[in-house]
Amino acid sequence: VKIGVIYGGDSPEREVSLASGTAVLKALEELDLKVEPLLVSSALDAVSKVQSSRCDVFFVALHGSWGEDGRLQGALDLLGKKYTGSGHESCALAMDKRVSKAIFESCKIPTAPYVVLQRDKFLGNLNQKLEELLCLWQAVVVKPSGCGSTVGVTIARDVETICKGIREASQYDQVLLVEKYIPGREITVTVWEEEGKVEALPIVEIIPKEGFYDYRAKYTSGITRYQCPADLPDEVGARVKEVAVASHLALGCRVYSRVDIRLSEDGTPYVLEVNTAPGMTATSLVPKAASAMGWSFPELVARIVINSLR
Ligand code: DAL
Ligand code: MG
Repeated sequence: VKIGVIYGGDSPEREVSLASGTAVLKALEELDLKVEPLLVSSALDAVSKVQSSRCDVFFVALHGSWGEDGRLQGALDLLGKKYTGSGHESCALAMDKRVSKAIFESCKIPTAPYVVLQRDKFLGNLNQKLEELLCLWQAVVVKPSGCGSTVGVTIARDVETICKGIREASQYDQVLLVEKYIPGREITVTVWEEEGKVEALPIVEIIPKEGFYDYRAKYTSGITRYQCPADLPDEVGARVKEVAVASHLALGCRVYSRVDIRLSEDGTPYVLEVNTAPGMTATSLVPKAASAMGWSFPELVARIVINSLR
């Protein structure tokens, strides 16, 4: 088999994708597999490069926007090409937090309470509404509905900061969420499908040395501590894994995904989102969970490709 690695793109997560794609290419080369780098600049470029490529399968190492929200996956389906990870419907559901949170709620999967705002189209008195939310929730997280890597995300404890957060998030999406901030711990779970079984890999806890786990903390080596497996009481760990697998299944994901969770002080796992094209860089989380399984990075990449071909 020859494996094409699609990476780059033009989303705010381009830099992360460049790192993911480079790492995946290197891993496949180390395994002596035939690879073709498809460094793409735009959706059109991606489609035309895929169309003229002779690869048997494509590793999607794009993050954000059309690379992760199902549009590329839909195009690959139309072209009759095989690719890694989830199909276009699940990618679209997962990328739109407004939709995925509604699905979690309908499946009784805990997710933080939230309100949805449309950029520049606020119903009624926004300031009053925000005051009410702060009274209820004390602190909130303002985020674009469809963006990753914490781009455009603000934690706010007063109306002025929320409004700044809304302006910031508006740069990235038309749909914004104001969500209750869940005090507690930040954890993430890789959900893995192999030979008909769906299971959670060891839980990773993210312990930022300062502030919160934002873009800088995610991609600057050494400023965040990771604990895998996370140090949790057995019953909490089991509940976390159960909720992660339920989230993956609720969105109809396949092969692998990474479920980001806030673990509240009382041990309830609140699902933040499901990533269908999780980061595959040196500091990324799925490789950490795989490593706790005893899988090297090349082994992880190979398993993703093989499981996607089944
Ligand atoms: N959105 C980034 C790439 C992640 O999920 O790791
Ligand atoms: Mg994400």
